This record gives sequence, structure tokens and C-alpha cells, in this order.
Amino acid sequence: MTTNIAVLVSGRGSNLQSVIDNIESGYIRDARIAVVISDVGDAYALERARKHGITDVYIDPSDYASKQEYEKEMMEVLKDNDTDLIILAGYMRLIGKELIVTYSNRIINIHPALLPSFKGLHAQQQAFDYGVKVSGCTVHFVDEGMDTGPIILQRCVPVLDTDTTDDLAARILIEEHRILPEAVKLFVEGKLKVEGRIVVHIN
Ligand code: GRF
Repeated sequence: MTTNIAVLVSGRGSNLQSVIDNIESGYIRDARIAVVISDVGDAYALERARKHGITDVYIDPSDYASKQEYEKEMMEVLKDNDTDLIILAGYMRLIGKELIVTYSNRIINIHPALLPSFKGLHAQQQAFDYGVKVSGCTVHFVDEGMDTGPIILQRCVPVLDTDTTDDLAARILIEEHRILPEAVKLFVEGKLKVEGRIVVHIN
């Protein structure tokens, strides 16, 4: 059976691209991106979707009286596309309770730091300013907290003395583009089991 994926984005969409490329190459099998949804009208990610013949939807949050109403509309789009898995790929909003409950353990996020350190915005900058000697990225299931859900995969990168924040962010991004498709593949193949906050990888 094909896993229908919805990708939520707000920006340039390089992580979206990594999933598209890994589906097209056959690394991730039995899955398709059914829809890309953005809360930003001119997000380059939407352009990337169109280039690959993927349905793109812009939902303007300011058209809705509340976050609940906005997400109700999003749930309609997700339902219309028979969504099995939601990927947050640079989606800059916290997901509301109803969506999380409806898609429990079926929403994954990519974060550019080694959680639980450096949650929230500008994680690479936070890590750089703190002076850590290693950083990295995390793919995790999404729960109601901010970047607090069960961890699926993490990858480390060194922080070099000569680095700028941009150097570090670029090194982390390379690993993001590897572990997000890896996590999607594990999910699609039914190899992830969530036990409390521990994600067990089934062989
Ligand atoms: C990535 O660094 C991701 O980890 C974070 O937002 C950024 C999105 O980049 N959540 P892109 O839009 O995927 O290029």
C-alpha cells in the first residue's frame, strides 16, 4: 500500500526536496507526497512541489479567525489527500492539539540541533553562541510541546573553531537532508514503534 505524505512548509523547502529526491530515486518506496501545504504564499517550497507535479496548497492563516479554524481547514486538505504521514519541513508554526491527536505518532519534524538542547527558533545560532563543540540535527515525532516529542534519529556534526554560524548551519543541513529521508523510509516500512517517549527501531 502507498503511504500518502503531506509536507508542511513555510520557506525554501530544501528538506522537502530531499524527500522528493529520495522518493524519485526509489530509496523511499511505496510512498508519495500527496500534497505540500504552506502558510506562506511565496514560499519557494511551493515552487519545488509544482516542479515535481505535486499538489501545492497555500492556506493563509490571516484568513481565519483563530488557529483552530485555520487548522480545521488544514485538516480538510489532509483528509482530502488521504494523509497517512505529515512531515514538518521548515514549518514555522506550532501544531495544535486536535491535529496532533488526530495524527498521533504520524507527524514528524526535522530540527537543526541535538534535542533536547536548543529548542525553538535559530537553533544553529543558539548552539553556536553557547559554544558547543558538537551539534547536529534531530528527527522526532511531534507532540504538544515545542520540539519535545519522541526522537527517531539524530546525527552529529563538529563545530570548528573557524566556523561562522552559517558554516555550522550548512554542515547541519547536509545531515538534515540525510536523516529526514531515512526517518521517512523507516516510518513507511513500518519500522518505528513508539513506547512512551522511546522510539524503537524494528528490524
Ligand atoms: C531547517 O533547518 C529545518 O531543520 C528547520 O527549518 C529549516 C528549514 O529549511 N526546521 P528548509 O525549508 O527545509 O530548506
